[in-house]
Order: sequence, then C-alpha cells, then structure tokens
Amino acid sequence: MTDFSDKILRWFDEHGRKNLPWQLNKTAYSVWISEIMLQQTQVSTVIPYYLRFMQRFSNINQLADAPQDEVLHHWTGLGYYARARNLHKAAQIMRDQYQGQFPEQFEQVVALPGIGRSTAGAILSLALNQHHAILDGNVKRVLSRYRAIAGWPGEKAVEKTLWHLAQTLTPEKRVADYNQAMMDLGASLCSRTQPDCAACPVEDDCQARYQNQQQAYPGKKPRKTLPEKHTVMLLPRWQQQILLYKRPPSGLWGGLWGLYEVQHPQQVKHKAESLGLGDYQIQELTPFRHTFSHFHLHIQPLLLELEASPNINAVQENSQLWYDLDQPANVGLAAPTSKLFSTLTLSPESHD
Ligand code: ADE
Repeated sequence: MTDFSDKILRWFDEHGRKNLPWQLNKTAYSVWISEIMLQQTQVSTVIPYYLRFMQRFSNINQLADAPQDEVLHHWTGLGYYARARNLHKAAQIMRDQYQGQFPEQFEQVVALPGIGRSTAGAILSLALNQHHAILDGNVKRVLSRYRAIAGWPGEKAVEKTLWHLAQTLTPEKRVADYNQAMMDLGASLCSRTQPDCAACPVEDDCQARYQNQQQAYPGKKPRKTLPEKHTVMLLPRWQQQILLYKRPPSGLWGGLWGLYEVQHPQQVKHKAESLGLGDYQIQELTPFRHTFSHFHLHIQPLLLELEASPNINAVQENSQLWYDLDQPANVGLAAPTSKLFSTLTLSPESHD
C-alpha cells in the first residue's frame, strides 16, 4: 500500500459515504446504472432518479425489453439523453449475447455502448472488487493537482500521464474503497473552484497546494481562435420607425426579425434602391462585435435617415416591418438588432 492510498483510505473510513442507495446490495447492474447517472450529475440529484429507475427496471432483461420511450421518460430531467439510449442498447446486447448477465471481462464491458475505460474500471472494481484504476473528471482534477501535471487532460499526452499515475497510485487491496474515495474526494474537497485543502488527507504532499496554484490544475481546454467575419447593417429610419425583415426559418437568427445587411458600404445604394427607400442621409454608428460559438461578427451599423416618408403600406406582408422604437411590436429580434436599439441613442430630431 502506498503512502498516498493509505491516507486516502483512512480518510474514506472516516468521511466517505457508504450508505447511498447504490452502495447497498451492490451488483454490477446497480453499480452500472448509478455510475452512468453520476456522470456529470451530482449525487443528490441522482438519488430519486436511481430509485425510480431501479423500481421499474430491476434487472438487465427488464431494461432491455422496455420501450425506449419509457427508458427516456425515466431519464427526463437528468440531461445528456445519449446516456439513457446507450444504457438501453447495452442492456439489449447483454440480453442477447450474455444471457441477461453483466459481463465480467474488462474488454467485454468497455466494448458496450456508453462505457469507457474509466467507467468500466469503476463498475468492475466497485461491484466485483477487480483491480482497475479509474480516471473520471473528478479523479483527473485530484491527480493533476497532486502532482501539478500541466496541460488540458483532453490532450492525449496529458491523459496518458494521468492514467499512468492513476495506475501507480491504485493499491492492490481495497480497490473498491480507494476508487470510491477518489471520486468522493474530487466531488467534495477537491472541487474545481473552492478546494478545501485544510481538510484534505494528502494536503502535505500536494504540489498544486505547495505552489498555491490549485486553480491552474487541471489545465483548461485551449480556446480555438474564431474566424472573423464582417457585415454592414442598415437602419433605414423614418421618424421613430426602422425597417426590419423576417429572417428565414433556419440559419443564423432563424425566424427572428433583423436589419437588412450588405457586405460592403458600396452596396448600400443598390440595396436602398431595391427596397424603394428614396433619398436618405447616411450616418455611421459605432461598430461593434457579436460573438457566436463558431465566429466573431464585426458589425458596422449605418443609419439611413430617409428624406421623405417611405411607403409604409407597401411592405411585403409577413416579411417586412417598420418597427416603431416608441411603440415596439411584440416580435423576436435578432440579438445585435435589439442591442443596437437599446444601446444606441438615435438622434431624436426628425428631418422635415
Ligand atoms: N461520480 C461518478 N461516479 C461516482 C461515484 N461512484 N461516487 C461519487 N461520484 C461519482
């Protein structure tokens, strides 16, 4: 037994939770269900779902034979529904290939849908006391702090280092308790934002603690640089009314009302003519940037102060709207459109 695992196990004996529903009358099936539910989800949230699920699907064949809709219904509110679909698929594989029994060979378990290397190790160690290391998100945080392992664990080389360390530190005896303790420690004391180092059993040897750099581990996913795109948004204005159009149902701001756009300021004249706006004076408004998950959009807004009343009644029904800033219509606006309307102080005087 290493010094590390010794301390972890002593902490577990004193502080670890041992009476959670899936820790009583453990079977590979019950541990499997709980481990899948506990991925990305806190213990307190999981408990009622677990109890209802086990009541309805008390063994592999009952789960395999149930309609998928019913399995998903028992998952409603837990999120990440692929987990439920994979549970159902895996139960059918066990029914058809393993006589309704949970397989006991690591290679068979890790081949099931929704079960990766760490979850396979967790199920077989917690339920059957087999000797396997685990490395879920919580354990990655504990170990990367303990040894100050830099880099994002999603990177192959970092993950490999962490797996190697996990295997080195896993004791020969009491693997189930040790693995449970590591998950508990990561989920409680060694939390992401506010680790309670004073209460930690391995505080004295923790490199991140020594450096006072707990927040630096594990390393964050590198932000990829987003492409930069440019657009010119037109605000044709007559008195307090601005012309909007309804965007197509799919794509960017699908189905919302937005401003007409052109790629370059030289195209404004052509666009204004095609919209039948008549004469106008252009005023450049302050440019700004709007960021999507996959690109940055630089927006140059141009105010077109119309010199004569546009033919407001000529708008194409259901696809154009003169939006009254003083009496806003109850419609969904594209984000930068409402940003422009709320932050820009449009000149109050109108052209006679
Ligand atoms: N997260 C994943 N598995 C867990 C477990 N067995 N106990 C606590 N948190 C977990």
